[in-house]
Amino acid sequence: MALMQHGELSKTLLHSQAHILNHIFSFIKSMSLKCAIQLNIPDIINGHGSPMLLSELVEALALKKERTQFVYRLMRILVHSGFFIKQSIPTRNDQEQEEEGYLLAPSSRLLLKEDPRSLMPYLLALLDPTLTDPWQDMGIWFQNDDITPFHTTHGKSLYDLAGEKPMLSQFFNEAMASDARLVISVVLEQCRDVFQGLDSIVDVGGGTGAVAKAIVNAFPNISCINFDLPHVVNGLVGSKNLTYVGGDMFEFIPNAKSVMLKEIDKWIMHNWNDEECVKILKNCKEAIPSKENGGKLVIIDMVVKQVDEGDNESSLETQLFFDMLMMACLTGRQRNEKEWAKLFFESGFSDYKINPVLGLRSLIEVYP
Ligand SMILES: C[S@@+](CC[C@H](N)C(=O)[O-])C[C@H]1O[C@@H](n2cnc3c(N)ncnc32)[C@H](O)[C@@H]1O
Repeated sequence: MALMQHGELSKTLLHSQAHILNHIFSFIKSMSLKCAIQLNIPDIINGHGSPMLLSELVEALALKKERTQFVYRLMRILVHSGFFIKQSIPTRNDQEQEEEGYLLAPSSRLLLKEDPRSLMPYLLALLDPTLTDPWQDMGIWFQNDDITPFHTTHGKSLYDLAGEKPMLSQFFNEAMASDARLVISVVLEQCRDVFQGLDSIVDVGGGTGAVAKAIVNAFPNISCINFDLPHVVNGLVGSKNLTYVGGDMFEFIPNAKSVMLKEIDKWIMHNWNDEECVKILKNCKEAIPSKENGGKLVIIDMVVKQVDEGDNESSLETQLFFDMLMMACLTGRQRNEKEWAKLFFESGFSDYKINPVLGLRSLIEVYP
């Protein structure tokens, strides 16, 4: 009995150690993926057109032969993480023998450079030291008076820093646009009726207009205003039914029948704290007509699941990652349904409808 207890204790100790080590090294997953993107591996394998041998990959990467075993190790972890698939193919010299070749998995298809829905810019921006350094300062921030860990690291907010550094702004805007193009393509496929009956939309914090462009292409009778900070929209040229307007959403939002707050993470509301959100929501309400006259607000953002709703643990974990990202880099947070409802009613909206059709995110319609 005593022996059993010792055995159990060792098992628990080793399990705990493995748990800790797995967490210490979780960043290796993201950094390995970033390395593969920097080396352009998904595009190279895609361009090959059939399972690509390690030797062919090393040659295409134009690396020294001595790097072969390191490429193998990088690919091994990315196969393990589900980004590439290994397939056995007969060797060139001896058809009886087999070698292993690499193929793209569905998620590495989304990292191809030329794919219009590629998340490559998003990955590179989110894993840039500008956004990852604040994590090193989170412990210090808990004990100081800075607004966010991002302020502790950079001395100012993300949007102020982007306003001062055109390269950073461009990098960040392209990252947001890549996510936006993917999400709006799903919205236009799955939820077209959201746009029925609308003749004008303003995308608040619409970045460089990825969503607005997709909407006016799909609905040429809708006119769209893409509203964002002046440094983001200055110099962008609109079209017949797309106008770029620069301004501050805390001050004023241009009028339209519907106001789109696409979050991300397209993300607007998750960037801000409750008080700031209520200010934005009240300005949105001012900008649209009454419910009877067709006014509505559309939000694309996360509705965090309750832990016991967890039909998919990994999507809950990703939502919690986003919540922590908002804490590290901005003043915002991810909200559950109750927290969203509180914001809507406090801002004077009368009703809302949540449509959980966008994977991690939902499409929320909010009525004045
Ligand atoms: C997380 S990004 C989302 C961009 C876009 N909606 C998308 O989903 O791709 C947040 C956007 O809000 C804009 N923004 C930040 N503060 C703003 C303000 N005070 N007024 C208007 N836009 C603002 C940023 O410039 C940025 O483009």
